[in-house]
Amino acid sequence: MKILFVCLGNICRSPAAEGIFTQLVECAGLSERIRIDSAGTSAAHVGEPADPRMQRHANRRGYALRSRSRQITSEDLDRFDILIPMDPSTVRKLQTMASSSQQRNRIRPMVAFCQSPAHPGYVPDPYYGGEQGFELVLDILEDATQGLLQELQASRLL
Ligand code: 4NP
Repeated sequence: MKILFVCLGNICRSPAAEGIFTQLVECAGLSERIRIDSAGTSAAHVGEPADPRMQRHANRRGYALRSRSRQITSEDLDRFDILIPMDPSTVRKLQTMASSSQQRNRIRPMVAFCQSPAHPGYVPDPYYGGEQGFELVLDILEDATQGLLQELQASRLL
């Protein structure tokens, strides 16, 4: 099972999703069965590590963010079983890249896996905001990644 988290810059939200889900999967003893990666729709930050603010907030919760930014490619829509965009504009971008209904069916918004109704309807971009934005991203991602793991386990796709 191959999972790709996707946001705009691949330096805040999707690296955090990758780091949190990686830890969750390791704790569940499923690292051999689930491959996890992240990518951005933009090339603006290619090669960069996660934003230092995102790293700091994630570290405080015990997550290590080790990814380097890369831009998504059309091959990713074939290589990954589930592509998980963070917000509506990322959903739209992936949908325009998809060239078949099979590829389109692999796109599932991150909040679709949330179990708490208290969250906004997407994972908001924290880049130009304050510290609270990073905390909100982590709150949503902790909820959604747990939902994702539960769905994978329940569906017996692993
Ligand atoms: P991300 O956040 O999409 O969660 O990685 C952003 C990073 C950079 C920019 C915007 C959002 N930017 O405009 O450079």
